[in-house]
Amino acid sequence: MAGMTAPKGTFDILPPDSARFLAVRDTLTAPLRRAGYGYIEAPAFEATEVFSRGVGESTDVVTKEMYTFTDRGGRSLTLRPELTAGLMRAFIEHRLYDGALPVKLWSVGSAFRYERPQAGRYRHFTQVDCEALGVDDPALDAEVVALGVQGFRDLGLTDFELLLTSLGDATDRPAYREKLVAHLAKLDLDEETRQRAQINPLRVLDDKRPEVQAQLDDAPLMVDHLSDSTRAHYDAVRQHLTDLGVRWTEAPRLVRGLDYYTKTTFEFVHHGLGAQSAIGGGGRYDGLSAALGGPDLSGIGYAVGVDRTLLAVAAEGLDIGTTAAVQAFVVPLGAEAKRLAVRLVGQLREAGVAADTVYGDRGLKGAMKAADRSGASHVLVVGERDLAEGVGQLKDLRTGEQTAVPVADLFDTVRAAVGS
Ligand code: HAM
Repeated sequence: MAGMTAPKGTFDILPPDSARFLAVRDTLTAPLRRAGYGYIEAPAFEATEVFSRGVGESTDVVTKEMYTFTDRGGRSLTLRPELTAGLMRAFIEHRLYDGALPVKLWSVGSAFRYERPQAGRYRHFTQVDCEALGVDDPALDAEVVALGVQGFRDLGLTDFELLLTSLGDATDRPAYREKLVAHLAKLDLDEETRQRAQINPLRVLDDKRPEVQAQLDDAPLMVDHLSDSTRAHYDAVRQHLTDLGVRWTEAPRLVRGLDYYTKTTFEFVHHGLGAQSAIGGGGRYDGLSAALGGPDLSGIGYAVGVDRTLLAVAAEGLDIGTTAAVQAFVVPLGAEAKRLAVRLVGQLREAGVAADTVYGDRGLKGAMKAADRSGASHVLVVGERDLAEGVGQLKDLRTGEQTAVPVADLFDTVRAAVGS
């Protein structure tokens, strides 16, 4: 049989690099945990209509990118292309809205999109997700945005930018849409773009082709057509962001790939990543709950791409997740020493010290190499002659200093040496 490989657009995250992945993932979730968000885990697949109704029938995500299949019971299921719609489904199903509002949730997990793979764009990727449901308060918008920023700051990232705009609400949108459609109808556009202008005119604003962009200079923008109440909402969000020390760039042409957004909408871009520069994005989605059959409740949230953030961390040359996994490494020589090593490593681990030893007979040289690779700061060598004398040799690899330690004191001495 030919060797098997991971499916196109997917990749394996292997040690030791996986330590950086974990560090990024956990650093991005820490601000959410500190802010009282509760962990929620929903299935990685949902009934297909959760996404067709939630994310929007006309989006690329739904029309071209979903992994949809019929299960053996004849149900149409879809691997989640994002987490929000499924979390909203859970919020409605379990009537979380019956409790105190807002309901603040975070999650992390796999998402799947059948996209053309390239650097930073995969078919299987990981998102850290944050949602605050049930309250429409500009201060909550600012909190959510600031939590996203905090995760990037905690990683040490600096070369990123927050793009911010307001997409209006269900009452502002139709009038603006009409204006935009009328404007686009006057332009010299190809047939496909004309059609897009009818179905989703906002997306034309995001067309990257220079010949299209050149004609869009005086296209009407949503932010100039907000009602008094949405404008006041947006002003308040910006005031709170200023108070929170968060800087942003106004992005009146920001277009998101999902249809549920209303009012505050944002994206985090990193300048070291090339084409796939969005490391996160989100916004308010005040119609999503109702669209999924729930009560008419608002929500706001974001998702950060862990894989892209890891690329951003690498682009800025940040040293993350490289702390040694192992603190103490035990090298036994001979059967009796082996028993002592296994027992000691077990005791150290129980006491919270990251400890390891060698397996298989490797000889002193091989064992010392393994000790070195483990990243341990301390190596304990227990040879046959040492054991006969009732000692082990504890070496501090950082200083090279070596001391003979009585067997009875090994546990306490190693533990003290690694500072646990
Ligand atoms: P999104 O902008 O589609 O929003 O995705 C969020 C982030 O996921 C992106 O900024 C990017 O970092 C990462 N991402 C998306 N697609 C890929 C891919 N193919 N490969 C690698 N990374 C990718 C959402 O998914 C919304 N659910 C966010 C949200 C939460 N809005 C409100 N609440």
